[in-house]
Amino acid sequence: MSNPLLQIIVGSTRPGRAGLSIAHWIEKAAVEHGAFDVELVDLAEVGLPLLDEPNHPRLRQYTKDHTKAWSATVDRADAFVVVMPEYNHSFNGALKNAIDFLFHEWAHKPVGTVSYGGVAGGIRAVQQLKPVLAALSMVPMVAAVPIPFFAQHLSGEGDERTFTPNDEVAAGATAMLDALAGWIPASRTLRAG
Ligand SMILES: Cc1cc2nc3c(=O)[nH]c(=O)nc-3n(C[C@H](O)[C@H](O)[C@H](O)COP(=O)(O)O)c2cc1C
Repeated sequence: MSNPLLQIIVGSTRPGRAGLSIAHWIEKAAVEHGAFDVELVDLAEVGLPLLDEPNHPRLRQYTKDHTKAWSATVDRADAFVVVMPEYNHSFNGALKNAIDFLFHEWAHKPVGTVSYGGVAGGIRAVQQLKPVLAALSMVPMVAAVPIPFFAQHLSGEGDERTFTPNDEVAAGATAMLDALAGWIPASRTLRAG
């Protein structure tokens, strides 16, 4: 059997976002982890409009090409890492909108979070995202990776910035990737059923 597919979802979409640099770090860590095939899914490139489907996503009666493409992307994943900022003590709107577009495609799949921000490291946003993930029958990993004062770990300029984790963040990432890999067999069983 081929390696399970882990998608790294870049949740922030604004120009100059830090999320892309942080996503490139966790993408590399996931490849080096060895348990996954890894795909970066950048919501800025996916380019979804605000939800514009007339039918509930549960029905899977998509009318727009962008929804069908987004459905195919998420459908092929076995697990996710969401790289997410904290905006006003919650998750950002583009991420929620992308989640709301689909339903069955998310179900029973494990999801880890890499969040970042000031002193709270984005963990308030993660805690608020968990009920959303639960509504979709997703399995959020307890082993989350919050990154407080993330800017201290960035070097370089613009989208070319490099994120270098400290030891605690690097160890947290390994624990999260281990947890995701551990959930995949159960997830596949549930999805097959
Ligand atoms: C609209 C907005 C709201 C923000 N609110 C928070 C916040 O509640 N907590 C926090 O730690 N940082 C907050 N910040 C600062 C972000 O942590 C910082 O701008 C970070 O770079 C955002 O991620 P991004 O660059 O990937 O978009 C906010 C930033 C923006 C743009």
